[in-house]
Amino acid sequence: MDRRPLVVGNWKMHGSIASARALARAVASRGAAYPNIDIAICPPFLHLGVVAHELRSSRVELGAQTLSEFEHGAYTGEIAAAMLSDIGCHWVIVGHSERRALFGDSIFAVAAKSEAAVAAGLTPIICVGETLVERKNGTTNELLLEQLRPFTENGCVRLHKAVIAYEPVWAIGTGETASPNEAQEVHEFIRATIAKHNAPLADSIRLLYGGSVKPDNAAELFAMSDVDGGLIGGASLKAEDFMQICGAAS
Ligand code: 13P
Repeated sequence: MDRRPLVVGNWKMHGSIASARALARAVASRGAAYPNIDIAICPPFLHLGVVAHELRSSRVELGAQTLSEFEHGAYTGEIAAAMLSDIGCHWVIVGHSERRALFGDSIFAVAAKSEAAVAAGLTPIICVGETLVERKNGTTNELLLEQLRPFTENGCVRLHKAVIAYEPVWAIGTGETASPNEAQEVHEFIRATIAKHNAPLADSIRLLYGGSVKPDNAAELFAMSDVDGGLIGGASLKAEDFMQICGAAS
């Protein structure tokens, strides 16, 4: 099956209103050059408004970096899925390893957040991936199965409108990338795991790779048969680098 490539920029907690506006403007204007791929950028919450404004007449879509699992109510400091949708988001990252490790997002919370996203019409980008210790201990697949378990229940009903991003924790922000073969091996495992529960979905779901994707390694990663695009951190903060990565996917 032909899966349309997708490149997503995760800006994490960087920038100011002015820099977010300038970066979004550059990506919006240059995104037109890659009509055969989907492109999204995920700025910090406070910059969603200005970025939405810059993207309004472009084909680049807006996403957020996390959300609340609750619909609305007395949840001080939280942001609901409907609020993200209201401001113009199509996408939301859930279960990023930084959220799991630093902010206590449990496997169950990640599933609940993903469900809240889908209920509000957003597409969740569900992040999974092992630490260096898990890789060295040979428990990568076990860990992935555990992270995927809430999503494979009931014929993968929770994955019907979702994207999965494989982000090995040891490759995030370290300059160390999984080799194309290492990435392919894990993507193949994820797809095979989904196939056991829902074969057509396994064929159509997009699997992104994330972790030190740069202009000089993107093409070889995206060339792998089960890698359908990338979730880009550091390199998404530079318009030139991000657009070159989009070029590699297109
Ligand atoms: P880097 O591209 O900076 O390694 O970050 C990857 C990532 O965590 C994207 O979500």
